[in-house]
Amino acid sequence: MLSPRKLKYLLLGFTCLLLVAASARAQDDGEDGGLDANAEELCQDRPGDEYFRLSTDGDCRDVVRCDKATEIGVVRLASVKCPTGLAFDIERQTCDWKTNVKNCEQLERPRKVLPILKTDEPICPEGKLSCGNGECVDKELFCNGKPDCKDESDENACTVETDPNRAPDCDPTQCILPDCHCSADGTRIPGGLEPQQVPQMITITFNGAVNIDNIDLYDEIFNGHRVNPNGCQIRGTFFVSHKYTNYSAVQDLHRRGHEISVFSLTHKDDPNYWSQGTYDDWLAEMAGARLIIERFANITDSSIIGVRAPYLRVGGNKQFEMMADQFFNYDASITASLGRVPIWPYTLYFRMPHKCNGNSGNCPSRSHPVWEIVMNELDRRDDPTFDESLPGCHMVDSCSNIQTGDQFARLLRHNFYRHLNSNRAPLGLHFHASWLKSKKEFKEELIKFIEEMLGRTDTYFVTMVQVLKWMQEPTEIPSLRDFDAWKEKCDEKGQPFCSLPNACPLTTRELPGETLRLFTCMECPNNYPWLLDPTGDGFSVRK
Ligand SMILES: *[C@@H]1O[C@H](CO)[C@@H](O)[C@H](O)[C@H]1NC(C)=O
Ligand SMILES: *[C@@H]1O[C@H](CO)[C@@H](O)[C@H](O)[C@H]1NC(C)=O
Repeated sequence: MLSPRKLKYLLLGFTCLLLVAASARAQDDGEDGGLDANAEELCQDRPGDEYFRLSTDGDCRDVVRCDKATEIGVVRLASVKCPTGLAFDIERQTCDWKTNVKNCEQLERPRKVLPILKTDEPICPEGKLSCGNGECVDKELFCNGKPDCKDESDENACTVETDPNRAPDCDPTQCILPDCHCSADGTRIPGGLEPQQVPQMITITFNGAVNIDNIDLYDEIFNGHRVNPNGCQIRGTFFVSHKYTNYSAVQDLHRRGHEISVFSLTHKDDPNYWSQGTYDDWLAEMAGARLIIERFANITDSSIIGVRAPYLRVGGNKQFEMMADQFFNYDASITASLGRVPIWPYTLYFRMPHKCNGNSGNCPSRSHPVWEIVMNELDRRDDPTFDESLPGCHMVDSCSNIQTGDQFARLLRHNFYRHLNSNRAPLGLHFHASWLKSKKEFKEELIKFIEEMLGRTDTYFVTMVQVLKWMQEPTEIPSLRDFDAWKEKCDEKGQPFCSLPNACPLTTRELPGETLRLFTCMECPNNYPWLLDPTGDGFSVRK
């Protein structure tokens, strides 16, 4: 993985290629240098967004893709070069450090056989569709996770755009609040309100373990004295991962009215584990993590209803099927690329209203009774009136060009006004605590920003669930002072649940050789809770 510093260097140094988090986006450099002689042939049946090599000679930095959009009927090859020191990974379709790229000898990604879905006359009887080899198979069997065609082509065209069983396009006559919200391009304000009537909601979220490394930061930001225009304390949302988490601290965040959500149990660092996870993987990770939090932070009010995928590696339909079965209400992992107007959260009964963007692109194609609190990318440009456009960034720390407090301050304000002056979609500020703590000025600038915004009468710092409650009952600014859904736990007083948590030293057979401390106000379990044994009682469930 690339360090932020290197990323910055790349971003500033190269216009032909930008690396953003783990996913690269390449901007074509426009040189076609006589490559187009056999473009027609090379580009037949090849998707326009796939990069491939013309030869395996050279230093593995050059790739091309087919550009079919330029002029009607003309296909050309657009070439891209990775920056020096990097190589292009054909499998992952991204530039990476040379040592990480193992497929320089490979010209292209292995082609998959596609089903024959678009034909003038149907090939198959009603209710069936054609595999790549002409075999007819029941429509429902397409994209169900197991091959049914002999050539397995039924599982090869399953994106949000191509899955034959995909969710229908938004139908506003069918999709009605409070349970459903959609619009053709995702930008419509719920309840038909005018932008000026809508509060600018800001959601501050943190990902990862809650522990001694960051409790002080959370206490400083949410110090109990900062209040929204309705008189209630500002709130944040914490996507908590299990390992190293201090559950007594989680219990206290919850007591003070913050929202606790899950960020998985293991937070495994293999991205494919998440993108390609099975239903049972997602179940063990997310329902398991919730069970652990509920037990060891003694959260008994069923308020843990949100999920964020580690590395924002969305797990496609499997993840969302699990969520619906387990009464998880919303996901907050899908990113929408930076556009002119930001996108409001939406329900997934209907098809998602924007392109599946970001890490591996495994967005749910089917209909799910789950909300998506979409992460709108931030505009990271230092001087938006002057700088050329750059791809947006979803987590604030992935805006790698933000290096100083001043830059961060401008980022916050510019994006705030971008939302405020358009459709007032909630502004998500998503952090890892370690980034905010990496420079004192970052934390100070965030606090300055919060205090400045709290001087306004139209701006609220709320949790994800509070956003959903507002959307389900769209309420104009003047009526918000009495908006009951935002009054719960308005002004939390009282004392932490225990003054001295148990510091349970624990092991588990699942993590041989590791002894971990679990801090909790509750009783110590026998084992460190882990995938097969989330309660820590011992292995009751075996796979
Ligand atoms: C765990 O959290 C509690 C509550 O915030 C705190 O009092 C305690 O010092 C923390 N323990 C450690 C080791 O972080
Ligand atoms: C856990 O929370 C419940 C409900 O808030 C409370 O009644 C109970 O005493 C707590 N349990 C322990 C062991 O602290």
